[in-house]
Amino acid sequence: MFDDGKSSTMPSPSSTQGNHQPNSSINTPSSSGATNLTSVSSGSSFSNLVFRRIPAERTIPLRHLVLWPSISIEFQLVPSYDLSQDTIHTGAFLPSTPHIEQDPIGILTLAIQPYSNPSSLPVSLQDQDVHVQLHKFAVNPSCQGKSIGRQLLAYAIRLLREVYCGKRVLLHFDARANQQRFYQNCGMIILDDNTFVKYGPNGEGKGVEYVKMGNVI
Ligand SMILES: CC(C)(COP(=O)(O)OP(=O)(O)OC[C@H]1O[C@@H](n2cnc3c(N)ncnc32)[C@H](O)[C@@H]1OP(=O)(O)O)[C@@H](O)C(=O)NCCC(=O)NCCS
Repeated sequence: MFDDGKSSTMPSPSSTQGNHQPNSSINTPSSSGATNLTSVSSGSSFSNLVFRRIPAERTIPLRHLVLWPSISIEFQLVPSYDLSQDTIHTGAFLPSTPHIEQDPIGILTLAIQPYSNPSSLPVSLQDQDVHVQLHKFAVNPSCQGKSIGRQLLAYAIRLLREVYCGKRVLLHFDARANQQRFYQNCGMIILDDNTFVKYGPNGEGKGVEYVKMGNVI
């Protein structure tokens, strides 16, 4: 159903503030797919990143590094949605070439999944045509706080608008409670005030507190 060849570049919001260069101290990651992500000095932001769709397995190294380090590599994918034909995996890449060989510096996954309790949603968010759940959103720790997450989420929303053109789409997700402000900065709202704890893809990770967030896009 989806075209895997699409890629897109977006200027960083910071480019209007005069900082146009990616930090050159990030090495080009290995082509083996192994995590080989080196640190960058703080303070810079990234522009002209490349955003594109990626196969599910290319999300594994960052998922493991950033989200669930206590879960072994072979359990990082959740077959029920990660391998579904309609699921979209996206990555952010440094603009250096060939970007297709690099490990992504940011990832997120979009799966068609119904919101768990639609009647509890604010009236303005009810009765949407499609429900898409955002999963496994991570930016390499060396690159966090430099607007990559914001740009990747904006790209994902644009992609969904293209794919579901003319349909009303509810984007929803379980947000790590400590990232609530990040998502609010990106236009998302809390869908349910109750928080809950999850223990990783196979239920054995360290507990993390979540809150349900999202919005119509
Ligand atoms: C959450 C994450 C994806 C955000 O990506 P990022 O590239 O670090 O975020 P950005 O630099 O694009 O931040 C965008 C905005 O949110 C703000 N922000 C980012 N993280 C924040 C946080 N934890 N609390 C408050 N504000 C935050 C930034 O200051 C920025 O605001 P501004 O544009 O007004 O300056 C990334 O930090 C990450 O991978 N965190 C660890 C894994 C994780 O928690 N993933 C989410 C699972 S639900």
